[in-house]
Amino acid sequence: MGRELDLAGLGFETRSVHGGGGPDVATGAVNTPVYLSSTFEQDRVGEHRGFEYARSGNPSRASLEANIALLEGADFGFAFASGLAAEDAVLRLLSPGDHLVLQTDSYGGTYRLATTIHRRAGIDVDAVDLSGLEDVVRPETRMVWVETPTNPLLQVIDIAAVATIAHRHGALVVVDNTFATPWIQQPLGLGADIVVHSTTKYLGGHSDVVGGFAATNDAACAERLAFVQNGAGAVPGPFDCYLVQRGVKTLALRMERHCANALAVVEGLLGHPRVAQVLHPSLPDHPGHDVALRQMRAFGGMVSLRLRGGERAALELCSRTRIFTLAESLGGVESLIEHPGRMTHASTAGTSNEVPGDLVRLSIGLETADDLVADLDGALAGLR
Ligand SMILES: Cc1ncc(COP(=O)(O)O)c(C=O)c1O
Repeated sequence: MGRELDLAGLGFETRSVHGGGGPDVATGAVNTPVYLSSTFEQDRVGEHRGFEYARSGNPSRASLEANIALLEGADFGFAFASGLAAEDAVLRLLSPGDHLVLQTDSYGGTYRLATTIHRRAGIDVDAVDLSGLEDVVRPETRMVWVETPTNPLLQVIDIAAVATIAHRHGALVVVDNTFATPWIQQPLGLGADIVVHSTTKYLGGHSDVVGGFAATNDAACAERLAFVQNGAGAVPGPFDCYLVQRGVKTLALRMERHCANALAVVEGLLGHPRVAQVLHPSLPDHPGHDVALRQMRAFGGMVSLRLRGGERAALELCSRTRIFTLAESLGGVESLIEHPGRMTHASTAGTSNEVPGDLVRLSIGLETADDLVADLDGALAGLR
């Protein structure tokens, strides 16, 4: 990386654009090049210019890691091949016999990872409503896993309150910040120890890359995460790092529009005769509204709704929209619609994390707000 720019104290947008380290020293390229090299020349045995082998580190990844860490207010950042790979690395901070408390209504894949793969490795996992955290922590509790807003019910968890209880019992607090992004909230500043992301979503922002991230200010956690990143090797390739970083540069602009469009969609859905309930933290009767006002800069680009016609209506709505594409994932420029019970959260069926069948989740994209509202209106009107 090139010209050193002191970004301390500069604005979020400036840090997003310049946080990767500035123009390339060798060529002056303003974007960090995609370094397609699996290995790096050493000047003498053991003496190199910062990189030896690309699983351990490569300049494209280092630039991305510096960039996202800066946005999260973290001293250390680690990029992974997917959000779940990042989560897996964080869960490997635990040892057999440790107790993990997971938020109910966290992403289905997180629940599956914890309750199948890590439970088999000897981790005791409880999925609970975190408002009852005090009642489930015990001496073996080593980690509390928070997702806020939650996927797909969009509950808001008070990060500072959870951190106070967890820390009193000596447990680490991990926050999945995928839905909010660091533009909306920075969990480390609210008391969390580790932040994780699926960079596949808003950070990448264009539905063209799968990636993950973990960030922390805790040197001991960072040392272990670095070891797992290299030792288990679930690292992103340089082109994937480039794509995520390109997304990061426009994060603030995109989030402003995602959030504004979501407010327009919420307004369009409220009171609709086919809609039983709209779930969005902006709504004054949302149970997490006051915490959201304190903890979030804006209310986010995800909206969920429950339909009066039950699961049948929810499934039908998903195949009736024209602009909203029926697909899993979220956080891209295009609006997506999905049925969590049958799609993203199918693995939670029959568990305490099962989601209601009448629920539809919307990822609000960057199209013209009026077009999105009209699309949903048309699809709802046509329901049998
Ligand atoms: C909140 C949340 N966390 C983590 C993940 C997992 O990320 P990935 O699909 O990049 O592995 C997802 C994926 O949908 C998610 O929505």
